[in-house]
Amino acid sequence: MSITVYNIIHIVGVLFLCIGFLALLSAKSARKGMMFHGIGLVILFVSGFGQLAKLGMSAHMPSWVIVKILLWLVLGFLPVLAKRHVLSRPVTVLLAFIVGGFAAYLGCCFYLGRAMPF
Ligand code: HEM
Repeated sequence: MSITVYNIIHIVGVLFLCIGFLALLSAKSARKGMMFHGIGLVILFVSGFGQLAKLGMSAHMPSWVIVKILLWLVLGFLPVLAKRHVLSRPVTVLLAFIVGGFAAYLGCCFYLGRAMPF
């Protein structure tokens, strides 16, 4: 598979994740939303490591990739906090968009050849 295909699959993963988190806002759709959330995470993980392999960066991952993996873990754990009523659903969605936005920013900086923040 070419890197462009991995890039497109990665963006599809972001869309799945967005749908998953937005569905949390309604009690009716929250269950189905968690399906999108899980599928989105798997797509992001597989396509993320696919991109790394194509870029020849799997063996020595730069620090921004390590941060992205940590952010991915946070995105996976956030719905648990909503389910256990540690966070309200709207706050969970807001945090997810901030964390996801930062992960996307790191990816886009590299993709577009811009300076990385670290
Ligand atoms: C295991 C977690 C992840 C890994 C290993 C990973 C890896 C990568 C890599 C290597 C790139 C650069 C691709 C290139 O320049 O061709 C990238 C780009 C990108 N990533 Fe991730 N990523 C992960 C999670 C995420 C998450 C959670 C989001 C957002 C919610 C995200 C959004 C993006 C975006 C928007 C791009 C730029 C467009 C693209 O290349 O598809 N990534 N990612």
